[in-house]
Amino acid sequence: MDRRSFVKTCAGTAIAAACWRGHPALAAAMADHPPARLVNADGSPLKAADVTTTEALVFAYPYRGIPCFLINLGGRAAHPTALASPEDGDYTSPAGAGPHANLVACVAICMHQLSYPTPDYSAIRYAASGSPLTDAPGLIVCCTHGSVYDPATGAARVAGPAPNALLPARLAWDAESDGLIATGCVGDKFFARFFDAYKSDLIDRFGPGGYRQPVGETAVAIPLSRYSAAVSTC
Ligand code: FES
Repeated sequence: MDRRSFVKTCAGTAIAAACWRGHPALAAAMADHPPARLVNADGSPLKAADVTTTEALVFAYPYRGIPCFLINLGGRAAHPTALASPEDGDYTSPAGAGPHANLVACVAICMHQLSYPTPDYSAIRYAASGSPLTDAPGLIVCCTHGSVYDPATGAARVAGPAPNALLPARLAWDAESDGLIATGCVGDKFFARFFDAYKSDLIDRFGPGGYRQPVGETAVAIPLSRYSAAVSTC
């Protein structure tokens, strides 16, 4: 994406004020990464209008071994929230992207003991209609030990043993195509710990070093219920 296109993309987003590299509104811990356009499993561009409200979509970003959730908050808008990561420092979560400022993305790795979605199973999910862990709908729950996060406030921790929020990924919305582009995230230091913790599993899936490779110009986003063969329903 050249500068002109990127400025155009930024101008069409609800995060315009924080979109441009170097803008003071960008939090220090939010790292720019090469943009990746989100696409469907068949390679066609994913449109904001097609993002379901019933479950999260999973895509890899900024590296092949890092799963992220894309969540449509429905009637809620995401609010920028001041948060902190023990490893990556203070940051402000991005506002929602899309025409209704209700699309958000976060790293889908629980901050308690690093549960994350795999092709076999996911203990972590977006519980759009609620969960036995919480009375409120629209929260992210990790069934491993009961951590709960609110994607409308930067995936801030709501309950459970997690010490801090899920880490945010930044989205830009291309108003012309209704497309979504991942442009950055918080977590460069956290990712190193995750890779160390699951090195063997990640090598099995992606090959030696494959999990550390950038995703490239596109990232496939598919519903969690198709990404993982089984999803916990706590
Ligand atoms: S790993 Fe998610 S709550 Fe413990």
